[in-house]
Amino acid sequence: MDKKIGVKILGTGSYLPEKILTNSDLEKIVDTSDEWISARTGIRERRISKSNEPTSELAYKASIKALEVANISPKQLDLIIIATITPDMFFPSTACFLQRKLGIVSIPAFDLSAACSGFVYGISVSKAFIESGLYKTILLVGADELSKITDWKDKNTCVLFGDGAGAIVFSNSQKDDDILSVFLGADGLYSDLLFLPAGGSVYPATESTVSENLHTIKMQGREVFKAAVPKMALAAEKALELSGKSINDIKIFIPHQANIRIIEAVAKKIGISMDRVFVNIHKTGNISSATTITALDEAIKAGKVCKGDIVELITFGGGFTWGAAIIRI
Ligand code: COA
Repeated sequence: MDKKIGVKILGTGSYLPEKILTNSDLEKIVDTSDEWISARTGIRERRISKSNEPTSELAYKASIKALEVANISPKQLDLIIIATITPDMFFPSTACFLQRKLGIVSIPAFDLSAACSGFVYGISVSKAFIESGLYKTILLVGADELSKITDWKDKNTCVLFGDGAGAIVFSNSQKDDDILSVFLGADGLYSDLLFLPAGGSVYPATESTVSENLHTIKMQGREVFKAAVPKMALAAEKALELSGKSINDIKIFIPHQANIRIIEAVAKKIGISMDRVFVNIHKTGNISSATTITALDEAIKAGKVCKGDIVELITFGGGFTWGAAIIRI
């Protein structure tokens, strides 16, 4: 009988736009303060993309780096997936724009929408495709430009978000199995606590949707916070259970970087100390689908994790959606 096909991680890459927007810069835009933002969220600055730098461009820059590390050419890919909630356009998919930028044709390419959980959902999809034998070499990207769907007059939300992209290359393997487990969940009952109302088929764009500012993120922060902590802890524990590993086998935990207080509460709930948790929220804010993969890439580049180490990614986002993945670097 044929041996089970496993997944090998070939490389990661990330890209953050050059422009830095600090908390002091935000003090000039809305009624806020560096002290308030730092204390309530842990965020000190975030990156903002240029007007002529769409999500596919950040995705392209991150992908080129991941392909370099993987030491493969774009022509060796046979599938592209981008997790994003800020696509270049409704259609074609941002994955098609990325495919064009990478100079390749014919291979399938599609976007995946699961808000901030998109990248972890993408890991699950990639794993299933590779294990089924349908695709051999997959480029999975998490890319978002939340600055372009942010209400810059709303101090409750505009201090939280940023832009960036991260990418990972997976291949099939008879020897390695680097995705040990993935656990996913969703609950559409909470869809109105974190959402972008207009522009879709419920409220197609009209003059009034624009004047009422319905094309920007709406959020009930406190309710989101309350839901995020137990769901992230649950996902972390379920993925561990599925992997057959113990909490002590994990070198570092990389939670979704939405709020340092959420991260600390999740760490406490699953019983780990903060020195085992990777945090870069102070530099990036929340970059939705890009968060866990840009943090993972930073952790690898900084030598916080080495070849063979096991990492747990834990996430939560609009939907609500949540999930966790245990991977070997
Ligand atoms: N600067 C200064 N004051 C602000 C502010 C800001 N940027 N944003 C809100 N406030 C004020 C509020 O107006 C409120 O004032 P009031 O008490 O006079 O009414 C006060 O701060 C407290 O607001 P509250 O919403 O209760 O604060 P909080 O402690 O819950 O923190 C969040 C707000 C948004 C930081 C926090 O709820 C959060 O991070 N939630 C999760 C958001 C998230 O992660 N979303 C993405 C998930 S993927």
